[in-house]
Amino acid sequence: MPTVRYGAIACERHENESTLDALLRSGAPVSYSCKAGTCGSCMVRVVDGSAPARAQAGLKDSWKARGYVLACVCHAEGDLTLAPVDADTQVAARIVALDALSAEVMRVRLACDSGFDFSAGQYVTLIRPDGLARSYSIASLPGEDLELHIRLLPNGRMSEWVRTAARVGEAVRVLGPNGDCFYTPGRPEQPLLLVGTGTGLAPLYGIARDAVRQGHTGPIHLIHGAVRAEGLYLDETLRALGGVHYKPTLLHADGPVDQVVLGLFPKPAGMRAFLCGDPAIVQTLKKKLFLQGLDLRDIHADAFLPAA
Ligand code: FES
Repeated sequence: MPTVRYGAIACERHENESTLDALLRSGAPVSYSCKAGTCGSCMVRVVDGSAPARAQAGLKDSWKARGYVLACVCHAEGDLTLAPVDADTQVAARIVALDALSAEVMRVRLACDSGFDFSAGQYVTLIRPDGLARSYSIASLPGEDLELHIRLLPNGRMSEWVRTAARVGEAVRVLGPNGDCFYTPGRPEQPLLLVGTGTGLAPLYGIARDAVRQGHTGPIHLIHGAVRAEGLYLDETLRALGGVHYKPTLLHADGPVDQVVLGLFPKPAGMRAFLCGDPAIVQTLKKKLFLQGLDLRDIHADAFLPAA
């Protein structure tokens, strides 16, 4: 079995085990969240050994050149010696506001210590001082503080910390941004269809305002689905949002969100769709919109991936 070394820790990587899991099993202080190669929080540097190309998929060229790999998708055949990545992969930030948007959702605003470029709708990984990492979509616009909508999960380590222990002024780190679910100018007359459930609303709130800000002239439809009325946590704000047709929908009153969407837009060809939130709902809706004629190139989907 190949050996993985990280600082003073050395362990054997079992067959079918990722490098990340081998390190965690051995007590190495490596951050992680998705364990799926998307959030970037488990990135480490290869000091000695050879990692497969898959372990660098999606990384910036400059990071690849520095030997950075994602430990959660790294299954190197030979021995590896690893080290933490340089500090410049993450941006220092501090919490500037914490508010409850509902009984289930907290809004966290972060000010980054240095410039942080992002597009509305992308996501970042929030890293706590002790290294715990979780990914959240950005609800704010470029130039504003980072705004994250954090759903309070039973036993959610990050969300419970945000609810009970985090304080304004607290230092955190931010990794990213990632994701390609964002508005791009061009075809300003094209109708936009934004559909999200739960805190999948966060990126759509940013995308809708970004489209308005960039002079989109076509109709912008924003549909937010929730199980209960309390889940429509930005209802008042969205009703007052200029330039956007907001449609709240409740599972028990209106039916599944995909049925609501297809009832409103039975012929979606020619629209541009942004779908965010529950992975099963996103997948179902993506498939149905495609079958109803919407070009796959016009469907941008960002399913919420819970931490592993
Ligand atoms: Fe490895 Fe997310 S990329 S934990």
